Amino acid sequence: MRTIIEPFRIKMTEALPLTTREERETRLASAYNNIFLLAAEDVTIDLLTDSGTGAMSDRQWAALMLGDESYAGSASWRRFERVVREITGFKHIFPTHQGRAAERILAATRLKPGDIVPNNSHFDTTRANIEYVGAKAVDLLTPEGRDLYSEQRFKGDIDLAVLERLIEAEGAQKIPFCMITVTNNSGGGQPVSLQNIQQARRLLSQHAIPLILDACRFAENAYFIKQHEPGWGNKTLLEIAREMFSLADGATMSAKKDGLANIGGFFGCNDDQWAEDFRNLLILTEGFPTYGGLAGRDLEAISVGLMEALEDDYQRYRHATVEYLAQRLIERGVPLVRPPGGHAVFIDAAAFCMHLSPRDYPGIGLVNALYLEGGVRAVELGSVMFGKRLPGGGEAPASHELVRLALPRRVYTQSHFDYVIEVVDAVWRARDTIRPHRIAQQAPFLRHFTAWFEAA
Ligand code: F0G
Repeated sequence: MRTIIEPFRIKMTEALPLTTREERETRLASAYNNIFLLAAEDVTIDLLTDSGTGAMSDRQWAALMLGDESYAGSASWRRFERVVREITGFKHIFPTHQGRAAERILAATRLKPGDIVPNNSHFDTTRANIEYVGAKAVDLLTPEGRDLYSEQRFKGDIDLAVLERLIEAEGAQKIPFCMITVTNNSGGGQPVSLQNIQQARRLLSQHAIPLILDACRFAENAYFIKQHEPGWGNKTLLEIAREMFSLADGATMSAKKDGLANIGGFFGCNDDQWAEDFRNLLILTEGFPTYGGLAGRDLEAISVGLMEALEDDYQRYRHATVEYLAQRLIERGVPLVRPPGGHAVFIDAAAFCMHLSPRDYPGIGLVNALYLEGGVRAVELGSVMFGKRLPGGGEAPASHELVRLALPRRVYTQSHFDYVIEVVDAVWRARDTIRPHRIAQQAPFLRHFTAWFEAA
């Protein structure tokens, strides 16, 4: 059969709120035109994020009942450790309440002011945690990776030539570790090839610089490798994942993505000193090392979810869904980042709203138009999120004006995506009516979460 179906049937339903345009106008106005300030009950299809928003399987729900809530040495912890070790091979494994907790402790224990951490692209919390301790987060994406429309397959690859120049210019002692984010969320969910990780590993080893994977979407990345990287087509996703982790000295993980869980994360590493330092801070702020801020039942859900994310049928459906959405939007002429990534479709809002300049925040106009048209919630990744405010009141725009439609895992069916396609298409056909937006009120940092907007 050619049709790739959802490899599950539905045992429990959750009602979707269906609203009228008038209702949505009122709700958006009371949210100061910022979709982060909407009540979730006012959203029909929520594509704000793929993080923690997935549906758990019956096996995960059953595993919750096995949760051992002992403070120390719980059986749930041992099952979690066994699964994470089976996938990653790391000697030391620490649960954390989510990805950024692992990032924060890693940054606090390994970095000092003036240090540099290269990455293909830092996710915003990773960057913030590195900068918080006075170090510098540097993005080293290849030129193809920065080109929204290049059809190259592994656009998440780190630029090895630039990495080598950086090491030579700054000296290895200023680089306590290098990161690679799989898949590269900020760059459109683009995958990283095994060859690139292998070559980065070789280069870093010559300078004794450890490699840390930001592994949130490791299973989606493994599927891209299986599909598109020569030599890996006959391997299982677990074998590919193991190979990826074997090249790294450690990893930070948000289990809210490829852990198929609603909360959780972990840090893994091989070095005993790194582990001891991490453990000490973990106890201070997250909890005892056998629960790390999570309930025993969360550890159970993650243990099952990590393995489900490595099932071929699941990844085939997951990738087919992203492609289904992307392909139909491309057919209608909607400008999208190519090729579609693993967890989301990114619309090029600057090309979508040719009548607006970055100062008009086209991404916000598009996000709000999608909500008003059909109750679909997307998110701006453009000048509101990444623009730099200059001394004297001006603003430097972001390099791209993107709008992300992130796909929660196992939540929406094909007809939900047909609806989303219809909504985007209607907004696309009326794109000239998308209005410029101004900021009426904003916080000094991470302003996108709370800013008030006015349509001009
Ligand atoms: N790294 C990457 C690549 C991420 O995408 C995220 C989260 C994190 C780290 C942090 O993990 O949320 O568990 O603390 N990304 C979400 C998103 C929030 O919407 O893309 P966390």
